[in-house]
Amino acid sequence: MARSAELHLDGRSIELPIIEGSEGERALDIRGLRDKTGYITLDPGYANTGSCQSTITFIDGEKGILRYRGYPIEELAEHSNFLEVAYLLIEGRLPNPQEFDNFEGSITRHTMLHEDFRRFFGFLPKDTHPMAACSAAVGALSAFYSDSLDPHNPRHMEISVHRLLAKMPTMAAYAYKHSIGQPFLYPRNDLGYSANFLHMMFGTPCEPYEADPVIEKAIDLLLILHADHEQNCSTSTVRLVGSSMVNLFASISAGIGALWGPSHGGANQKVIEMLEEIRDEGISAREFVERAKRGEDTARLMGFGHRVYKNFDPRMKIIKKACFDVLEKLGVHTKLLEIAVELEEIALKDDYFVERKLYPNVDFYSGVIYNAIGTPANMFTAIFALGRLPGWIAQWSEMHADPDFKIGRPRQVYTGETLLEYQPLSER
Ligand code: CMC
Repeated sequence: MARSAELHLDGRSIELPIIEGSEGERALDIRGLRDKTGYITLDPGYANTGSCQSTITFIDGEKGILRYRGYPIEELAEHSNFLEVAYLLIEGRLPNPQEFDNFEGSITRHTMLHEDFRRFFGFLPKDTHPMAACSAAVGALSAFYSDSLDPHNPRHMEISVHRLLAKMPTMAAYAYKHSIGQPFLYPRNDLGYSANFLHMMFGTPCEPYEADPVIEKAIDLLLILHADHEQNCSTSTVRLVGSSMVNLFASISAGIGALWGPSHGGANQKVIEMLEEIRDEGISAREFVERAKRGEDTARLMGFGHRVYKNFDPRMKIIKKACFDVLEKLGVHTKLLEIAVELEEIALKDDYFVERKLYPNVDFYSGVIYNAIGTPANMFTAIFALGRLPGWIAQWSEMHADPDFKIGRPRQVYTGETLLEYQPLSER
């Protein structure tokens, strides 16, 4: 029997249906609330608001569980690869060998950018942040491919999805090459997804570049770990923008903007800048933690805290281990890792962090790996965006197929002036 909750309000009683998810998560369906009572709900930051029902990603923040389409992140990190995870998220199931070959083949064939993108990137100032360049370039795809933008045309959607997955690494690498004044490299379709990205980032036309397999595997792992995270800020942005029926490229371009912020994906750049500041200014880890608690200089301990994870972030555990492995295999010794470990140890025992359930998140150690493999700090968030792309696409597609689909349009409680009479300028 369908369950419901009873709400007593203004002397009346109304029933609110209870929706239960497959993992036991419960929600009150308030869709009819305003019509029946005149009330809306108020939830700044949407901390307590479900915006959709979704079959893509499950998180249990209390237990530190993350699963894509039912598969634990730990298993995918160990056995899968990024393109397979992308297929899983977008298509809803793991591919068979033939399906995987077709998918990989199609992504590989679309890696090249329209030649005019060279001029597009060339016009940007040298110090353009890669996230600004990527957001602009992805938005521009809707100009270059204006013939296949209809969200309701399955063929348009398939080609747009493949183009986006294929071209995004090329765009991110172009953004970087432009910033350092090196020539753009064409993609190499004989390479895998991550190796090709590394080739376009670190290769030059003057000599052959071969990606170290340790680095290639590390990048692939980081992309898998970032691939989806249900209704976070950038994903909700992609859904909200897409709900206006605008095309996929415009929606993802907006999502890249949302991810850039330091409270979200931009935290990975901020973490490494924080570690470098501690190293370069000789601040002790303990003093830095005290400053973060007081909200001084550094408003927060970057890479710590999460809206959903209140125990530990399972992605962080995998990344921390990978960080030690990669640095050891590459023979890299960095003070930054020592500082990160010390900060983590201090914060995890500190009452301030314990009481607020603040744990290191996905961004805390990822930057140390990127740094060790020679990636400049301003590219960290762009790599996060590469990883998050399949999640954004899957969520956008799910929204369009949802029978409950509606344009996203929250309400508000107005607290401004009540009716005022307009005074002409000359009388003010
Ligand atoms: N350092 C110091 N204090 C913190 C931190 C931190 N990193 N994070 C939260 N707090 C405090 C905050 O000041 C507040 O204290 P009080 O209750 O005394 O006012 C309390 O903890 C709750 O914080 P909140 O801002 O209400 O929590 P939120 O759920 O709205 O924010 C967060 C989550 C991730 C934005 C926040 O923890 C933060 O800013 N962390 C640092 C930035 C960061 O690492 N972001 C990456 C998130 S994971 C990657 C992704 O986005 O996918």
